[in-house]
Amino acid sequence: MNKVLIAPSILSADYLNFGRDIKEIEKAGADLLHVDVMDGVFVPNITFGMGLVGQIRQVTKLPLDVHLMIVEPGKYISRFAEAGADYITIHYEASKDLSRDLKAIRKNRVRPGVSINPDTSVKKIEPVLGLVELVLIMSVFPGFGGQEFISGSLSKIREVKEILQKLGSKAKIEVDGGLNSQTAPLALAAGADILVAGAAIFNAKNYGKAIKNLRSKEGGK
Ligand code: DX5
Ligand code: ZN
Repeated sequence: MNKVLIAPSILSADYLNFGRDIKEIEKAGADLLHVDVMDGVFVPNITFGMGLVGQIRQVTKLPLDVHLMIVEPGKYISRFAEAGADYITIHYEASKDLSRDLKAIRKNRVRPGVSINPDTSVKKIEPVLGLVELVLIMSVFPGFGGQEFISGSLSKIREVKEILQKLGSKAKIEVDGGLNSQTAPLALAAGADILVAGAAIFNAKNYGKAIKNLRSKEGGK
């Protein structure tokens, strides 16, 4: 059994103290750092861009898991790659040519990821699953932290897992949105490898304990 990986989302960090929060999260045992890039068009919220990714790259050794919630993601791949992204995940719903954009990510020596919204079926991304190293199943509608987990995502995790196994792919399944000590064990039981969590970690007093609780398959307190 592989180790459960936890990717805290800095969407819920203290924006005036990113450096401090990131160092604390690294010490607390995070495995990756999830960076939610939003353009106000694909999603009804605006966050940060490649400038911040570049600065974060200077202060942490954690792999940077960049989640692009932007239209025409292909236009920005090389700049996020230069900024130091380790994974770049793009949305099926946002890309005009998913396979072209995923190949462009790989060309830039970054690990490609593909994501689907809660109302998009796994069938839509099946043709590109052989091209990715990460499949991000959204368990909330993207845009904001602190939303409630949509349990319909569980069957999608199982479905993706089955397809990846058939393909002989080692791509990881990541789940994003509404994960806490109650919902994390459900996502893990369905086959998730990486759990993204914003509110459940950054709203906790003890980051280490929050991360440990999310990792636990039995569910923490
Ligand atoms: C939502 C983002 C998530 C968000 C998750 O659009 O993609 O990464 O930060 O936040 P929580 O864990 O609070 O639901
Ligand atoms: Zn995200």
